[in-house]
Amino acid sequence: MNRQWIYAVRPDGPVGVDNFEYRETDIPEPSEGQALARLCYLSFEPAMRTWLEDFITYMPPVPLGTPMLAPGVSQVVASNTPALKEGDLVSGMMSWQDYQVVGEQARVVPPGTPIPVMLGPLGGTGLTAYIGLFDIGRARPTDTVLTSGAAGATGSVAAQIARVKGCRSVGIAGGTEKCRWLLEEARLDGAIDYKNEDVDARLRELCPDGVDVYFDNVGGDMLETVMNHMAQGGRIASCGAISTYNQGMRRPGPSNMFQIIEKRLTIQGFVMFDHMDRVPDAIEDLGRWVAEEEIAFQTDIQEGFENIPTTFLRLFSGANQGKQLLKVREPE
Ligand SMILES: NC(=O)c1ccc[n+]([C@@H]2O[C@H](COP(=O)([O-])OP(=O)(O)OC[C@H]3O[C@@H](n4cnc5c(N)ncnc54)[C@H](OP(=O)(O)O)[C@@H]3O)[C@@H](O)[C@H]2O)c1
Repeated sequence: MNRQWIYAVRPDGPVGVDNFEYRETDIPEPSEGQALARLCYLSFEPAMRTWLEDFITYMPPVPLGTPMLAPGVSQVVASNTPALKEGDLVSGMMSWQDYQVVGEQARVVPPGTPIPVMLGPLGGTGLTAYIGLFDIGRARPTDTVLTSGAAGATGSVAAQIARVKGCRSVGIAGGTEKCRWLLEEARLDGAIDYKNEDVDARLRELCPDGVDVYFDNVGGDMLETVMNHMAQGGRIASCGAISTYNQGMRRPGPSNMFQIIEKRLTIQGFVMFDHMDRVPDAIEDLGRWVAEEEIAFQTDIQEGFENIPTTFLRLFSGANQGKQLLKVREPE
């Protein structure tokens, strides 16, 4: 039996459990050149909400009536290709079902790599933070770097590698515990609790000379507030806009766009997939910083196939403490 979570109903507003439907089907048969793999871990990313729209973003929309997609790791259980052997762990885009048919180009996980690390700081999450901060934000050691979503998967890496590089690093996150983590574990220079503090006033206090690099994970009203605090020649690395995803991304932009001209700002969006040539540098640096405990990383691992939709929703309430994963089973 192959358990599935199907994308059943297009959301009109916040995504909910009712947008997905549980089904059971036969186990698929891999063709020549393919392998059958059993799902072990799923990774969740807020932009998956944008894949539920009926327009193309950086990904084609997930078709209604098919299993929802997410990055993950599966284990090969039968193979019709010499490129993959039984027991291999493969990573990449998976679907919300027990059995995945994977092609011979599937990326094999190097033996011994812990899955949560591979899906976190040494995977797409770390790469996104690395590119956004250095290539897009062009952070220099004298800069003040501000990161929103700073206690989350991507933001926590971005904010800490800014600190490692000698920048003054300030993070914005929701809640006392997340801000405590930013100050005590991630060792940032400042933390702003946007759910309980006046962000505008706290930015004046913590970034008196302005923000040189804003690593933006949130978009929306927060972006508008931060734009008023950007320093001359500041750079905004637009990584994500989670505050707008549940509104179908049809929101107007900030009302203070003149700040871009007045302060000679650069705002640049980026998608990690376009920067795969940076993987070797990113893995080398991030691997060293993780091994030397220069950067702390939190992983939030939920369990159970039945909990896949509710785990996805945790990203939007902020219930996740760090990288949101779900374990369906440990590899054998
Ligand atoms: N450009 C790329 O290639 C790329 C790649 C990966 C991820 N991203 C983007 O990076 C961002 C972070 O993704 P992630 O995977 O690292 O997730 P994450 O930060 O681990 O989790 C999402 C966090 O967003 C915060 N949040 C939720 N709703 C919010 C709202 N309305 N206003 C402010 N904050 C809100 C919550 O933290 P609080 O408790 O602090 O509110 C939540 O924990 C997302 O925007 C994502 O789309 C971009």
